[in-house]
Amino acid sequence: MKKLLVLAGVLLAVTAVLTSCGAPAATPTTAPSTVPATVAPTVAPATEAPTAGLELSGDSIRGGKLYNTWLEETGADAPTELNPVWKAANAGDVSIESSWSCVTCHGFDYQGVKPFAGILSDAGKDPNVILASLKGATDKNHDFSSVLDDQALTDLALFVSKEMKDPSAVVVDNKPVNGNADNGKTLFDNTCKDCHGPQGLGINFESDRQPEYPATVAENGPKILHKLRFGQPGVPKMPAGIDNSWTDQNYSDVIAYLQTLPKASPVTEGGRMYDNWVDALGVDAPTTDQPLWKTQKTNTSLSGSDTWLCSTCHGFDYKGKDGINAQGSENYTGFPGILDAQKMSDAELTAWLDGTKNKDHDFKTYFNSDDLARMVAFIQKGMIDHAPYIGADGKAVGDATHGKVLYTSICKICHGDDGKSINFAADEGGTEYVGTIATNEPWGFMHVGTVGLAGAQMPAGMNLGWSAQDIADVLAWAQTLPTK
Ligand code: HEC
Ligand code: HEC
Ligand code: HEC
Ligand code: HEC
Repeated sequence: MKKLLVLAGVLLAVTAVLTSCGAPAATPTTAPSTVPATVAPTVAPATEAPTAGLELSGDSIRGGKLYNTWLEETGADAPTELNPVWKAANAGDVSIESSWSCVTCHGFDYQGVKPFAGILSDAGKDPNVILASLKGATDKNHDFSSVLDDQALTDLALFVSKEMKDPSAVVVDNKPVNGNADNGKTLFDNTCKDCHGPQGLGINFESDRQPEYPATVAENGPKILHKLRFGQPGVPKMPAGIDNSWTDQNYSDVIAYLQTLPKASPVTEGGRMYDNWVDALGVDAPTTDQPLWKTQKTNTSLSGSDTWLCSTCHGFDYKGKDGINAQGSENYTGFPGILDAQKMSDAELTAWLDGTKNKDHDFKTYFNSDDLARMVAFIQKGMIDHAPYIGADGKAVGDATHGKVLYTSICKICHGDDGKSINFAADEGGTEYVGTIATNEPWGFMHVGTVGLAGAQMPAGMNLGWSAQDIADVLAWAQTLPTK
């Protein structure tokens, strides 16, 4: 996942810079009125004293993203030691990565996360003074110059001085102030829907066991407001409300609408489990073979956790030995397909998955009851017969021209025009691109295009409002892309 964000970041950084030049109106009027516009840098030791009044030039919106998580935004390597400010404060358990994130200590409301102080009173301050404190002028532990370059520190200082404001004009107790969900829907449909889908379920940001969609994030008022204002670190194409000159009312409206949207999508979550439930749920992989594996002798290339994946035994066309895993194929196991199981009731399907029907087909050690429900939902509502969309020769039955339009609307953001921005086989030193999968594994492509890919923040076509034919059209286009 990190790889993706870095890649997307590199590719699109230029766009980000270009689009964020329109300097947003500074917000001195909304900063607490007790704060003087500038503060003499008396706190800084003489040797570190910044040149007061020197105009810093930078990108305060990028600063807002860096504040959120500068690691994602810069693609830098994570520090290997706990942040010294955290260590000195003895503030409890935290990951090394989080201990370095501004937001961990100062909060999305900028009012501080215990035991750390808020920084809202620094809004409006001379950015030079803030820059000095980010280089350790007031507390040598609070020195970020070893991990962030000068431009990044400047962007952060400009963010703190010019953009940071009290969220209470927009959200109070996580409720939007005078939010109008109908107006919010219009804004959402115009600015968010292409990537997040009409219900906001296109991309899951977390594991499929504890999924997180925009509606989930919207429960935290200051956090969603910060994301809406500045965009998402590492995803330059996600717009920043400030760039679009959104008003407080616009933010309230969008948050009101987000709070009406669903927070779960069992069908696609189950679909990602079908592909690889170890990745989807973030659980420890089984180390021994699935007990049914030894009942077949033809597929000798796999062992351990791979033998536990639904897709391994039942196939990406869900037809087992009657489909792409037929006798003679390298994946032949003789195991049956499950397309007919679509008609089974919840209880019957659950009985298949918890060992009641066959004690060797038992996944309840790994699946909790919600996971079982997700798996059942996918089988009943997500699984389709691919036959109308993919010929026996593997060629898509679809309109490549329409597929290109859909591909360009979202897939391109991460995979590039030619599908080669991410190499899925980079770890093994191979080359495998969107075009490679489309040509060599069209059924897997169709599955992934429909439900997304576990742990990849990849959109689920069906939650973008795409039909199976739309996804087949994308496949048809992807089959024209380079395979190496
Ligand atoms: C581990 C917790 C922690 C992290 C991470 C952290 N800070 Fe701080 N910050 C503090 C503490 C504690 C203070 C107050 C005393 C000090 O300067 O150390 C402070 C003070 C500040 C101040 C006020 C300085 C002044 O002199 O008035 C600003 C502005 C600030 N931090 C911004 C940031 C930014 C931007 C980041 C991210 C690059 C960041 N902080 C990361 C804990 C943290
Ligand atoms: C160009 C595509 C694109 C557009 C347009 C877009 N987003 Fe995103 N958004 C993404 C991607 C990709 C991620 C996932 C990044 C990640 O997981 O780090 C994301 C992440 C998010 C997050 C999760 C942040 C987190 O880390 O918890 C929220 C909330 C969000 N988007 C809301 C919105 C809203 C609201 C809009 C419209 C104002 C919008 N997005 C527009 C692509 C987009
Ligand atoms: C090691 C191979 C293997 C794995 C992994 C596997 N299955 Fe099965 N599955 C089978 C076999 C073999 C049968 C038939 C067993 C029998 O008849 O007792 C079966 C039967 C089923 C059935 C009943 C089909 C019917 O029409 O009666 C369903 C539904 C099913 N599996 C779903 C899944 C799901 C979902 C997963 C992933 C969580 C999964 N299977 C993982 C081998 C496997
Ligand atoms: C937010 C970024 C993002 C977007 C948008 C995106 N993908 Fe992906 N995609 C990824 C990542 C990350 C991977 C996994 C890379 C890896 O495994 O190394 C991936 C993997 C894939 C794979 C390989 C799956 C496999 O089984 O290995 C295919 C096929 C694919 N994407 C197709 C698409 C299509 C079609 C779209 C548009 C509907 C799309 N992607 C949109 C990030 C994205």
